[in-house]
Amino acid sequence: MERLFPTGVPVLGKDLAGRHKEKERVKQLLKSGQSVVLFGPRRIGKTSLALTVLDELKKEKFFVGHVDVFESATLPIFSQRMVETVLANKKLAKTIRALKDGLSTAISKIEIKNVVNDFEWILKFAEKDAEAYDLFSNALDFPEQFAKKHRRHMVLFIDEIGDIDKFNGTEFIKLMRSKFQLHSHVTYLFAGSHESVVKNVFIKKSGVFYRFAQLCGVAAIEKVSFKAFLKNKFKEVNLDVRETALDAVLELTEGHPYYTQLLCRELYFYALSKGKPIDSEAVEIAIDEVIRIEELYFSTLWEEVSKNSAQVTVLLAIVENRGSLFHSDLKKKINVTRTLTQLKKRGIVEKNENNRYEFTDPLFKEYIKVRLL
Ligand SMILES: Nc1ncnc2c1ncn2[C@@H]1O[C@H](COP(=O)(O)OP(=O)(O)OP(=O)(O)O)[C@@H](O)[C@H]1O
Ligand SMILES: [Mg+2]
Repeated sequence: MERLFPTGVPVLGKDLAGRHKEKERVKQLLKSGQSVVLFGPRRIGKTSLALTVLDELKKEKFFVGHVDVFESATLPIFSQRMVETVLANKKLAKTIRALKDGLSTAISKIEIKNVVNDFEWILKFAEKDAEAYDLFSNALDFPEQFAKKHRRHMVLFIDEIGDIDKFNGTEFIKLMRSKFQLHSHVTYLFAGSHESVVKNVFIKKSGVFYRFAQLCGVAAIEKVSFKAFLKNKFKEVNLDVRETALDAVLELTEGHPYYTQLLCRELYFYALSKGKPIDSEAVEIAIDEVIRIEELYFSTLWEEVSKNSAQVTVLLAIVENRGSLFHSDLKKKINVTRTLTQLKKRGIVEKNENNRYEFTDPLFKEYIKVRLL
């Protein structure tokens, strides 16, 4: 079956809805040599946006690279991935693996021999007792050296930067900055979902990457263009979808890309199995299914939140839309300001354009509504 609405993997090219403005802005900054950090709630589309930008820059003859801190279990793995993604620009990504498999056979290949001649320290990857710190330190300078050697400019994307703490200590991240700031052939693109971490690292004066990268918030996708995109997708497979159904989807998800895709995937399955047009009734069924799919995540999150009864009170007040949080009876019972700060820090609520506090995750709100009230 065709993957009409991919979920759980970053989307690129024709699968990417909207994001035109964001893409141009990020590209413009990166091309001018300004490093950028994308931040926003989980599954809002940071990685998809970043990878699309890289794809386009690659077509414009930039060297590009991508490492994910979350997916690198240890510091040596992170270092190896960093080197591999850089080498991939010359189709040499398998160099380290070849070296690990056997030095002499690897070196017999002329391209690998050339890499080793230019960057001898790469041989350390094949040594069992190589110092993790040394490898990391060398790997951090590698993009600059490689780009310089080939007289190209590189854009390196470091995803889930907030996770860097798992490598024990600020020492590593400090080393990162001290090296990156001297690089003139590489511009860095970062992404992180934990707003508080991004703030601590990039915005706070004491943050290691303070003033290093320009902040670009990634928010939901604008509904009009998202709707046109979805309409086209259904048209591609000749499925009849009512306007009202798409409106209902976007009203619930508020343009949050992950949930919109997930709901549309369920609507697609519904239409295939029932052979009926997609209408508002189908949307109800799909919402139910999506909440079931995300149930474990929501219930775990709720369990966490419920440890603090003031947080529960505030969240329920937002769900029930009981007017201003500050002029109600709430203020008599709990410290509203402090509770909102806690919820904001955890990325659960944020102020919307109308200056009202809202859930960052529209489906978590729906979950509370249908399961807990
Ligand atoms: N521009 C887009 N158009 C269509 N779907 C999108 C778009 N951006 C994201 N998505 C959907 O949302 C999902 C999550 O996207 P992505 O992994 O890029 O988000 P993220 O913010 O990096 O998430 P995480 O916080 O998990 O790192 C994708 O699998 C896709 O279904
Ligand atoms: Mg991501």
